[in-house]
Amino acid sequence: MRALVIAKPGQAKVESVPDPIVTADGLLLKVRMVGLCGSDLNSFRGRNPLVSFPRIPGHEVSATIVAGNQRAPEFEVGTNVTLSPYTSCGTCASCRRSRSNACQFNETLGVQRNGALAEYLVMPAEKLYVANLTLKELCLVEPLTVGFHAVARGRVTAEDAVAIFGCGGVGLGAIAAAASRGARTIGIDLDDGKLQLARAAGAHHTINTAREPLHESLAELTAGRGPDVVVEAIGLPHTFLAAVEEVAFTGRVVYIGYAKELVSYETRRFVQKELDILGSRNALPEDFYAVIGMLEERRFPVDEAVSSIVTLEEAPEALRSWSDHPLQIKKIMVRLD
Ligand SMILES: NC(=O)c1ccc[n+]([C@@H]2O[C@H](COP(=O)([O-])OP(=O)(O)OC[C@H]3O[C@@H](n4cnc5c(N)ncnc54)[C@H](O)[C@@H]3O)[C@@H](O)[C@H]2O)c1
Ligand SMILES: [Zn+2]
Ligand SMILES: [Zn+2]
Repeated sequence: MRALVIAKPGQAKVESVPDPIVTADGLLLKVRMVGLCGSDLNSFRGRNPLVSFPRIPGHEVSATIVAGNQRAPEFEVGTNVTLSPYTSCGTCASCRRSRSNACQFNETLGVQRNGALAEYLVMPAEKLYVANLTLKELCLVEPLTVGFHAVARGRVTAEDAVAIFGCGGVGLGAIAAAASRGARTIGIDLDDGKLQLARAAGAHHTINTAREPLHESLAELTAGRGPDVVVEAIGLPHTFLAAVEEVAFTGRVVYIGYAKELVSYETRRFVQKELDILGSRNALPEDFYAVIGMLEERRFPVDEAVSSIVTLEEAPEALRSWSDHPLQIKKIMVRLD
């Protein structure tokens, strides 16, 4: 079969690779479309320490079942599905607490093992989700689940004002999730295009911190108290710090971003404000169902969120140009046909 292979950082091309072997619990899927995300870009750039090479990237998938499995007769041949790209060991501390999204030994598709940018893929039934969605919508499920999970971690309710730092793929999911829980939702970014998309996804207010002061703008929107919940979806030391500074007393801070440098805190703020500081990683099945529900109700600006659809042959060039112009591109999808 054909697949996109990253041979080493900066070098991606379409190659012939062996067909996947169908496992005892696996279903054979024909991959139809794959969304590229920041972690695929990082793999291409050699900036993801978890990736080894050569690697087939891709984990935001829509696919059609081409061979079922007797152990899972509910998944019929011809059905379109999306999937959860994570694994869980079942025995680590996270798994024992039913938080398999944070499994200590997780292997994400396209990161620690070969991913979905290939004609065929074998997946166990427990990772598949059937939904009444288009191929493009199915590819958006997984990236949106990350923000949905963060909002669940932050226990967001309709009583809350929620500020989301970063309106990229991940932040956008948090905005849609907070807005759908009825919270007053504030999107923060440096880019007007991202903020426009944030409003389309449900943000009631937006702040462009390239020209508006963060603290004063948040204070004005929250009667001087600060947001009840801050979700950090950028991954920079200064936004990690700002989350703790800006959040209201007794508020919740949810970190999704991966900061690449050390962050130093005035830890007194944690104590004085009596904060809940939470990490949020990947997503649980309930987050997948919540996102699917939102997309089925057509409550998300799918077309605006996708900047282009390319073929598998065009994918290496698309990765290169995304790497050269990271700010101008929202989401690239690769169709395999
Ligand atoms: N915890 C997890 O499970 C998980 C999963 C996926 C991604 N991530 C992390 O989440 C973060 C966001 O990922 P993404 O794919 O949405 O990235 P992205 O690049 O698509 O989005 C980041 C957004 O932040 C904005 N931004 C950058 N600097 C800013 C600043 N100083 N102030 C305000 N806005 C700023 C950008 O304009 C962009 O819109 C990354 O750190 C990524 O590694 C975490
Ligand atoms: Zn992703
Ligand atoms: Zn585990």
